[in-house]
Amino acid sequence: MRFHVGSDHGGVVLRKLLIAALREWDVAVVSEHGPADASESVDYPDVAAEVCRRMLRDRAESPDTFALLVCGTGQGMAISANKLAGVRAGVVADPFSARMIRVHNDANVICLGERVLGSELAKLLLREFVTARFEGGRHARRVEKIEACGEPGREA
Ligand code: RB5
Repeated sequence: MRFHVGSDHGGVVLRKLLIAALREWDVAVVSEHGPADASESVDYPDVAAEVCRRMLRDRAESPDTFALLVCGTGQGMAISANKLAGVRAGVVADPFSARMIRVHNDANVICLGERVLGSELAKLLLREFVTARFEGGRHARRVEKIEACGEPGREA
């Protein structure tokens, strides 16, 4: 399993902490994006787009590639990330949802909010996401329908 990771200024501290956790769990961090510290203000849609484009490119060869995005709430990152076709990003704040966005929704991006979560809870949420597996079956059909939502001619 490998991760592209990014944050804006609102998520720098948690980004660094979670990168350390991923490495502790032997999960590869293949790229890191965002400011070096919280004093450098950046726009979260720019970071989300950069991280997700890299993730999507990599997934063609390494399907075990995911992304972690952190901002103040996680919401801006998720809204931005979900604009890219092929991205399935979820914001989570409880362990059950962190697991189920993999198991049922086949999420490839987890979004967390530094201003919402304590660091131990954030680690636990990421751990749930990392250790969960997509169940497939009826959920695969639903994920296919998610992907079809953005296709031309599906508006009606
Ligand atoms: C930045 O101040 C803040 O708006 C951002 O980190 C995030 O919470 C947006 O969703």
